[in-house]
Amino acid sequence: MNNKEIIDSIKKSTLAILKSSINQTEIEKELNNIHLHFQKLTEITGFDTKIEHLAAVPLAKGKALGLNHAAQCLLDYKRTVTFLKAVVLAIKEKKKTHPKETIHFFYAGCGPYAPFITLIAPLFTPKEIQFTLLEINKASVESAKKLINLLNLTDYFQEFYLADAVTFKVPEASKFHILFSETLDALLYRESYVPILYNLLPQFNKNVILIPENVLINMSLSNNSKSNSDFTEQKIETILDVRKAISSCKQHPIPMRLPDKKIDFSSLNMNTYKSILLDTQVHVYNDIWLKRSESSLTLPLEITLEQPFKNEAIIFTYQIEPSIELKCKLA
Ligand SMILES: C[S@@+](CC[C@H](N)C(=O)[O-])C[C@H]1O[C@@H](n2cnc3c(N)ncnc32)[C@H](O)[C@@H]1O
Repeated sequence: MNNKEIIDSIKKSTLAILKSSINQTEIEKELNNIHLHFQKLTEITGFDTKIEHLAAVPLAKGKALGLNHAAQCLLDYKRTVTFLKAVVLAIKEKKKTHPKETIHFFYAGCGPYAPFITLIAPLFTPKEIQFTLLEINKASVESAKKLINLLNLTDYFQEFYLADAVTFKVPEASKFHILFSETLDALLYRESYVPILYNLLPQFNKNVILIPENVLINMSLSNNSKSNSDFTEQKIETILDVRKAISSCKQHPIPMRLPDKKIDFSSLNMNTYKSILLDTQVHVYNDIWLKRSESSLTLPLEITLEQPFKNEAIIFTYQIEPSIELKCKLA
């Protein structure tokens, strides 16, 4: 295939993915086709064994995924399709509310394939949308730049910063309409979505569209193991709502941990439950959500309860230092 044919093939696959009628098998086929082109163009497969492609990158807070994992995100099919749809919708909405302006998109954490410019830009004109990229991994920056050049997308592209989004001060932050940062994992483990929002959000205009808009971690109790057919569960409470936590915490820099969340068991008959389930729900944009097990980002964690259960409460703490993770202890 020549370059024009590759560009056409990628666009055709993207348009197919965005159709509401597409089924899962077709989605996988189209994303695999895109991945094949991206890996040929960048020479990054996402599956090689080079140490520097495997290693996570330390940040001011947390760790960034290694290059291979960042590349493989493209093949988290439901995740990628859901985010693509959300981004297209957000751009269209911003175009409606700002009809005479070029929409400015800030992409924090683009990975080696930068799919939210390389797949999205060809659906618009450079007058309609301009992208600014930021990424901490030098090899990802080089790969994404190469791809943007080979796909003839340089007219859509303003700046590329090799920097940590946890500490970066965004030049001309008020010009941006959309802030995109898929820097998260299930239970908000290790990756830096929370400190990134803490740093970046206050810099942008208050009407900026953030994608993903929010992340919730919910707790439920179940009377059986998830693998059992008579499994039922009772939703207990949201133990972390990232946007609420960030807006109620004005301290700078970000504190070592967010305030504790205590779940009191006194009104529950804890001896009837077999396990605690912790669910990550990603509120992508408007009514678009990624729910349980739809993506690697939303895999639930099941904690078996040892019976007889004598504890009165469980206390959750989202810790930022020394490592980013949700901790819990029984009281
Ligand atoms: C989950 S991958 C997503 C890659 C790509 N945007 C996608 O959606 O397929 C997250 C990317 O963000 C980068 N990243 C994570 N934390 C970062 C930070 N604090 N500053 C800059 N880049 C970061 C990682 O290096 C990685 O390339």
